[in-house]
Amino acid sequence: MIKETKGKLGILLPGMGAVASTLIAGVYAVNKGISKPIGSVSQMGNIRLGKRTENRNPLIKDFVPLAKLTDIVFGGWDIFEDNMYESATNAKVLDLALLEQIKPEMEAIKPMKAVFDKNYVKKLDGTHVKSAPTKMDLAEMVMDDIRRFKEEKGCERLVMVWCGSTEIYIKPGEVHSSIEKLEEGLRNNHPDVPPSMVYAYAAVKMGIPYANGAPNLSCDVPAMVALAKKHKTPIVGKDFKTGQTLMKTILAPGLKARSLGIRGWFSTNILGNRDGEVLDDPDNFKSKEVSKLGVLENILQPDNNPDLYKDLYHKVRINYYPPHGDNKEGWDNIDIFGWLGYGMQIKIDFLCRDSILAAPVALDLALFLDLAGRADLFGIQEWLSFYLKSPQTAEGLPPQHDIFLQQEKLLNTLRHLMGEELITHLGMDYYY
Ligand SMILES: NC(=O)c1ccc[n+]([C@@H]2O[C@H](COP(=O)([O-])OP(=O)(O)OC[C@H]3O[C@@H](n4cnc5c(N)ncnc54)[C@H](O)[C@@H]3O)[C@@H](O)[C@H]2O)c1
Repeated sequence: MIKETKGKLGILLPGMGAVASTLIAGVYAVNKGISKPIGSVSQMGNIRLGKRTENRNPLIKDFVPLAKLTDIVFGGWDIFEDNMYESATNAKVLDLALLEQIKPEMEAIKPMKAVFDKNYVKKLDGTHVKSAPTKMDLAEMVMDDIRRFKEEKGCERLVMVWCGSTEIYIKPGEVHSSIEKLEEGLRNNHPDVPPSMVYAYAAVKMGIPYANGAPNLSCDVPAMVALAKKHKTPIVGKDFKTGQTLMKTILAPGLKARSLGIRGWFSTNILGNRDGEVLDDPDNFKSKEVSKLGVLENILQPDNNPDLYKDLYHKVRINYYPPHGDNKEGWDNIDIFGWLGYGMQIKIDFLCRDSILAAPVALDLALFLDLAGRADLFGIQEWLSFYLKSPQTAEGLPPQHDIFLQQEKLLNTLRHLMGEELITHLGMDYYY
């Protein structure tokens, strides 16, 4: 039984840069009838129900009880004091002509002071930062912020989506292994508890669904999964699937479906936004690299298909190139081979807009996590892998990267939640 949507949904965003400001501006623009929420599956996507002949294909937002965009309020934290109009202007993703039309609403959203430590994001320095003796104190301060926000904005429910910078690569360790150890780590300022984990801890402890849009660990550790189960909170991570990885997970299943071999896949990105600057540091890039590299191996399964994929050479690079700004260029060179081993090449040059692709993903994750909370789902929400580059799974379970399988899982979960028949595409007619 899904609880109905009444009142306002507060979307809390730690990190209010390009993606966050593009998301917020987009929701206001849609609510004012200036634009449409293109790229948001929850708003623009259809879902087939029943048999093909029944011709039932409602919009997802008309099928499942999602919060309405007009019922959303935004809040968040950043290490810079810029309000959302200033943040969007700095990010240079959206035209000023568009931003002018929603300026008062955007100016009204000002970030709260962040939990931040430069050791985890080496290229950033900010002054709008909380200070307290321990990480546990900081988590308590975030919880106070959340309570105040909820009260002031009159929110019925909240969700949190990490849109902060990518933190340095940290391997899951002892401190992440149980709730008790994590709490001890928060009290002792353990170095393997980064700021993103402090926000995640605060949210999950308060029963607020949490999504991680970046590749750093955040909620992807056993302690946080246990905490999510204890507080009956849905969580999902990590790293918004946009740009190059989106293309990779669309193309690779297609090549595999036709048993075409792949010898090499070289991917390089050129981007000039703040995200690109942060990722220019090797430790921060390492988090992203790990997140991007897992994709092909999982889809192609070289062990099952050694003739086609065992020698696959996969390389991913990110290059900070300021003139491109948020307009990322994703280059892929793919060396494939076909009948009798004859080689061919595919070149992709995706002139994308990073935050334009990420904003609807962040919106859908927030809306579906809110739905999950109302449907009493908790722990890792694997059905939302569709939106993520490095989907979080239960321990020992390999993630699913193939976008078409991910889509089926998402749609079938929605059908299941609404008591509709699952669709397996197994038409049996021709057997009889
Ligand atoms: N744009 C995309 O297509 C895309 C795709 C996948 C993942 N991501 C990830 O999403 C995140 C946001 O991307 P973006 O383009 O908006 O980057 P951005 O640099 O424009 O914004 C990130 C913001 O987070 C803030 N921040 C950093 N540490 C913080 C902390 N501890 N607390 C609060 N604020 C903090 C920064 O000051 C900055 O304003 C990045 O981690 C990025 O890797 C983006």
